[in-house]
Amino acid sequence: MSNKIIKIFDTTLRDGEQSPGASMNMEEKIQIALQLEKLHVDIIEAGFAAASPGDFEAIAKIADAVETSTVCSLARAVSRDIKAAGDAIATAKHKRIHTFIATSPIHMEYKLKMAPDEVIRRAVESVAYAKTFTDDVEFSCEDAGRSEMGFLKEILDAVIEAGATTLNIPDTVGYRLPNEIGIMIKELSDFVQERAIISVHCHNDLGLAVANSLAAIQNGARQVECTINGLGERAGNAALEEIVMTLKTRADYFEGYDTNIHTKEILLASKMVANITGISPQPNKAIVGKNAFAHESGIHQDGVLKHQETYEIMKPEDIGLNNADTIVLGKLSGRHAFSDKIASLGFNLSEEELNHSFERFKILADKKKEIFDDDLRAIITDEIVKVEQVYKLINLQINDCMNGVPSAALSVEFEDEIITDAGIGNGTMDAIFKTVDRISGIDGELTDYKVNAVTEGKDALARVVVKVIFEGNKPAVIGHGLNIDTMVASARAYVSALNAYLASKDTNRARARGGI
Ligand code: KIV
Ligand code: ZN
Repeated sequence: MSNKIIKIFDTTLRDGEQSPGASMNMEEKIQIALQLEKLHVDIIEAGFAAASPGDFEAIAKIADAVETSTVCSLARAVSRDIKAAGDAIATAKHKRIHTFIATSPIHMEYKLKMAPDEVIRRAVESVAYAKTFTDDVEFSCEDAGRSEMGFLKEILDAVIEAGATTLNIPDTVGYRLPNEIGIMIKELSDFVQERAIISVHCHNDLGLAVANSLAAIQNGARQVECTINGLGERAGNAALEEIVMTLKTRADYFEGYDTNIHTKEILLASKMVANITGISPQPNKAIVGKNAFAHESGIHQDGVLKHQETYEIMKPEDIGLNNADTIVLGKLSGRHAFSDKIASLGFNLSEEELNHSFERFKILADKKKEIFDDDLRAIITDEIVKVEQVYKLINLQINDCMNGVPSAALSVEFEDEIITDAGIGNGTMDAIFKTVDRISGIDGELTDYKVNAVTEGKDALARVVVKVIFEGNKPAVIGHGLNIDTMVASARAYVSALNAYLASKDTNRARARGGI
C-alpha cells in the first residue's frame, strides 16, 4: 500500500474572495491565512497581486506571517502580473507563482483573441519569467475542461520545458462529469509522468466539484485546489472539508491516499471564514453545516446514544466539533477559565487581544445568561481582525423607530476628542449611517448589509457585515459589528468600514510614495 499524499492548495483568499459579496480586508486575510496554516494546507493562494494595491499588500503581509505553508500569488500570463506576484511573495519562506492562460477554443477566440501558437508562446514566456522569482511555478490552462486534448498536451509539454513544476487542469465553468474528469486526468498524467505534478481545480456549477476532484485524485492528480466552505466564483469551488473528510472517512476506498490536513482545525476555519465574509454555509452543508452532526428524529437519537456509529460515519471531534458546545462560561467565570476556553477553541491570542476579548466577554456575560462557544468565536474573530480604530463608537441613542421621524444621536471618539452629533433618516439605520457620515465628513454609500444571529435565543449576539463605497472610491470596503443590540452592531459595522477605508487610503498613499 503506497502512501500518496495529495497536496491541498487552498484558494479561499483568491477564488473564494471572488464569491459575490466575499471580499475581505487585509487583517481578515492574514487571520484566515494563519488558520489555513494551522490546518496544515500545503499551499495558500493568498490573492492576485496585480489586482490592486490592497491585494498586493495583503499577499506581502501573508508572505511575512506564514512559516510552513507555501504562499502563492496568482498572475495572468503577462509580465506585469508576474512581477507583482514575484514581488508580493518575495519574503515568503516557501513561495509559488501561479500563472494561467485560457486554452479552450471559445476562450482563445472570443476572450483572448489569440491564435493557439501565440497562447503557447505567452505561456512559455510567462513560466520562464516566473522562474526568475521562484523555482516553484504552477501553470493553469484556464477552461481546460473545454479544451482539446491535443492542444493541452502541446502546451503542457512546452511549459514543462520552460520549468513549470505543477500543471493545473481547471474545470473553470464546472461543466465536466466525474467520469469525464477521470478519463481526462488519466490521459494527462500518463502523458506528463513524473515531469510535473498534476493538479485539478473544479468549479461547482453542477454541484460536482468535489466528486470531480475525487475522480481526478483516483486518476493521477496529486494536488487539489479547493476552498473553505466551497466559496468561490459563481457556484463556488470544491469544498476543502468535503474532499479531506472523504479521503479520511473512506480510506478503505481511497487506499493509500492521504493529506497533510490537521482535520481538527476544520470547524474553526469554516467558522472564521463564515464570520469574516458574512457568508454562512447552509445548515445541511456536508461536514461544517449546523446540522451536519445533528440528529433530529427520535429513532436516530436513540441509535446514536446506543452506539455512535449507527448514524455517524465521522467523529464530530475529528473536525474540531466538541459536543460539549453548550453553555460554556457565565458572568462569574474568571480570566483563567476564559483563557483556557479560548485556547481549547484553537485560538492563540496575544496578551492584549486576550485582555480586550475578556473585557468584551464580561460585558456580554452581564447581558446574556448563557455564553456559547459560538459567542466566544464571534468575539475573538471580531477582536483579531479589527483595523486601527481611527473613529470609535462611544455611544448611540435612537428614537421613534415606528411612528415618528427616525433619528440617531451618536458619540464618536476621534483623535482623543469626543464628537457628538444627531441626524434623521428614512429609517433608524439610515439615520445612524448618515450621522456617521456627517461626523467624519466622508460620504458613504451602503452597497450590502447582512445580519446574522450568532446563536439561538432572543438574547443572541447580532453580527452585522456591511459593504460601503466611501467618497465614490471602489471597491466597497467591508465592516463588521457585533453586539447584542442589532442597531449598535450596525453602527459598529459602519464605523469599522470607515476605519478600513481610511486604512486602505493610507496604504495607497504609502504605495504611491514608494513606501510599500
Ligand atoms: O477557475 C479557474 O480557471 C481559475 C484559474 C485562474 C485557475 O480560477
Ligand atoms: Zn477558479
